[in-house]
Amino acid sequence: MIVLPTPAGIHAEIEALAPDVFRLRLGLIEAPEPPESAALIEPNWEIPETAAQRKGGRSCLATECGVFSWDRRGAWQLSDAQGFEVFSSSIGATGFSANGAPELTLDLIEHESLFGLGEVTGPLNRRGSVRDFWNIDVLGHAPAIHPALASLYVSIPFALSLRHGRAAGLFWDNSSRQHWDLGSSHPDKWRLRADSGDIDLHLFLGPTVEAVLQRYAQRTGTMPLPPEWALGYHQSRYSYETQARVEAVAREFRRRDLPCDALYLDIHHMDAYRVFTVGSGFPQLASMTRKLRRQGIRTVAITDPAVKDDPDFPVFQRGMQREAFVREADGKTDYQGQVWPGIARFPDFLKPEVRTWWGEEQRALLEQGIAGIWNDMNEPANFARPDKTLPPDALHRTDSGPQPHAAVHNLYGQAMAQASREGLLSHRPDERPFVVTRAGYAGIQRHAIVWTGDTSSHWDHLRDAVPMLLNLSLSGVPFCGGDVGGFLGNATPELFVRWLQFAAFTPFFRNHSNLGTRDQEPWAFGPEVEAIARETLRLRYQLLPLLYCLSQRAASEGEPLIRPLLYHYTNDPVAVACNSQFLLGRDLLIAPVLEPGCPARSVYLPNDVWYDFGTGERHVGGKSILAETPLNRIPVYVRAGGILPLAPARNSTQEPPGETLTLHVWPGPEGAFHWYEDDGITLQHESGLFHQRRITLRRQGKTTHLHFGPAEGTFASRIRNWKIVVWDTSPNARIRIDGALRKSPSSPEAELLVIDLPNRDSAIDLSIVGGA
Ligand code: GLC
Repeated sequence: MIVLPTPAGIHAEIEALAPDVFRLRLGLIEAPEPPESAALIEPNWEIPETAAQRKGGRSCLATECGVFSWDRRGAWQLSDAQGFEVFSSSIGATGFSANGAPELTLDLIEHESLFGLGEVTGPLNRRGSVRDFWNIDVLGHAPAIHPALASLYVSIPFALSLRHGRAAGLFWDNSSRQHWDLGSSHPDKWRLRADSGDIDLHLFLGPTVEAVLQRYAQRTGTMPLPPEWALGYHQSRYSYETQARVEAVAREFRRRDLPCDALYLDIHHMDAYRVFTVGSGFPQLASMTRKLRRQGIRTVAITDPAVKDDPDFPVFQRGMQREAFVREADGKTDYQGQVWPGIARFPDFLKPEVRTWWGEEQRALLEQGIAGIWNDMNEPANFARPDKTLPPDALHRTDSGPQPHAAVHNLYGQAMAQASREGLLSHRPDERPFVVTRAGYAGIQRHAIVWTGDTSSHWDHLRDAVPMLLNLSLSGVPFCGGDVGGFLGNATPELFVRWLQFAAFTPFFRNHSNLGTRDQEPWAFGPEVEAIARETLRLRYQLLPLLYCLSQRAASEGEPLIRPLLYHYTNDPVAVACNSQFLLGRDLLIAPVLEPGCPARSVYLPNDVWYDFGTGERHVGGKSILAETPLNRIPVYVRAGGILPLAPARNSTQEPPGETLTLHVWPGPEGAFHWYEDDGITLQHESGLFHQRRITLRRQGKTTHLHFGPAEGTFASRIRNWKIVVWDTSPNARIRIDGALRKSPSSPEAELLVIDLPNRDSAIDLSIVGGA
């Protein structure tokens, strides 16, 4: 670490946390202590070797990957080891305004693009836009409704920059309101300002998108591995108001042979919106949740932070005894606002004891068999004020001392999600918690799944959902999703189908809609839509092993499940600019239909060979093709080299997955897949109860080699047989397993090469001679 020369009253330092991660900090010496970081965790990075130098008024700190240099007037640059500049700020552009607010301006170069920023509406590339990081409850947030919308429920002041195909990242850890102007008022300047606190930047050198995201995930934490049921189809609405209705919906799913893993109870399950209570509509909640469980369906309940101000309400009483609520600026009286239950107080989740108390209160729901918690209104939303939240001077009593609400506003929802998760863990210590949240800050992925709030049942909103989930995925939040079908207003049958088809490939897959809107269950739009919905849901369940393996990679490596094309094709300007397609893992490309009445759509296939997932048709990439899109078709393509497990469809993850797994293989120059299994529900994978192996593909001349690496972990694989389906290969190709020739694997009339391979833990070598 070196201290940098600054004007009087400012302290500045630069530190290399890893060879490719620099941290630049500037603070006013007289300023109050900023709140503790809720974003950062201590990564196990080795201290890098550094060389510090001061020459001619310039201070430099170098690692093997890059050099940070700062001149006496505060201009600075970060360059990589090849001298390529990734960030720079000119003289006097990094410091504090006259009123002590931290601010900095970075230079943007021609063709630089900026991504991430957490939850945002509008195009994937954020250059030219403005973002205010200030968590806020906003109804119907599509650009068509709110063209100038700058704030949303989640604030993640992290951006990924792409300069000539080279990626770098910047994270400003400051939970007060931040305002970013990313080349909007000046095309070549990226201006960042916060209301209070310090400048505390993490600068990630990349050079790949993957490397930036991995470092960011190591620093802010990866998402924990979710229970397998989190990846199933979930059905919600505001509200299924009675037990009878919930049971009827569950019955309907089963009667109609439609997959579903969870039903949600929105605010009407409570007694007059008193949190943790159960109203008269649910006279036997425990027996209802048991009944649903027998049908393979879990029950998730909403919890909102605001506690009804009612001296006879036990949760309120216990909160009062614990002095749990956010105070007025005087520090003596509790602040009273207004949410669903009327006058209410707001638990001060910034206080660890309050988080523990809140977690204990969850017991009331968990004892009735509630499987997961859905945190809403936790920006926090407050109907009592025009700014829709708590007063900026309301007082939080945090571990690091009192903090005005303005300084910690963006941490409130995150702290609530943390309380929910920790509470679940303390009640069910061996079960993976399931928490969904609307609000969050950087690091939210450690505590909860993020869903994108109140969308509208409108095509604009479906279109917007694609870049929105991709930018969240590029901001350390791999487990995200939006209300399928849209929340506000009524979905048309066509919109519903197209939304479902898109969302089937997104991590969190939940249908939800608003009070007073038409029914939005898969059968609510008539038999044609129901049949397509059934196929779509079945496909989702066939994809579960893929989604689960990718979730494990997200949990261990910080790799997003869904990715914009630029993630793997950073040098391809068409891929970088693509807003309407995405990748699930490395090999599956999805081009959802985002327009009404669309008989065909154009699909850009980046520079690789691709196969149509449905028909097997081969396409050479590096160009756009036209895909026909009748209502029952989702254009999906697989990269040559792709390896993709497909399970038999099930109606719930609770049903046994079967002992044979089909592994589809599309021969190509190279490919790899990380196979991962465990019990899907407990935390024993953390102590080694898992089964994983790397499966790789390599083509040499006319031979395709498929290699199953030796299995690791103590979990016994459930798979007894792999059924390997090799595409675009003669069914008469010669097969060798561990060197020994296998006789005619497929029947002569077969169109595809299919190989039955008994599974075992030691390495397996398969070669296919005489490919395409
Ligand atoms: C908020 C949520 C929505 C929920 C409603 C009632 O608008 O975003 O999902 O249904 O509150 O709880």
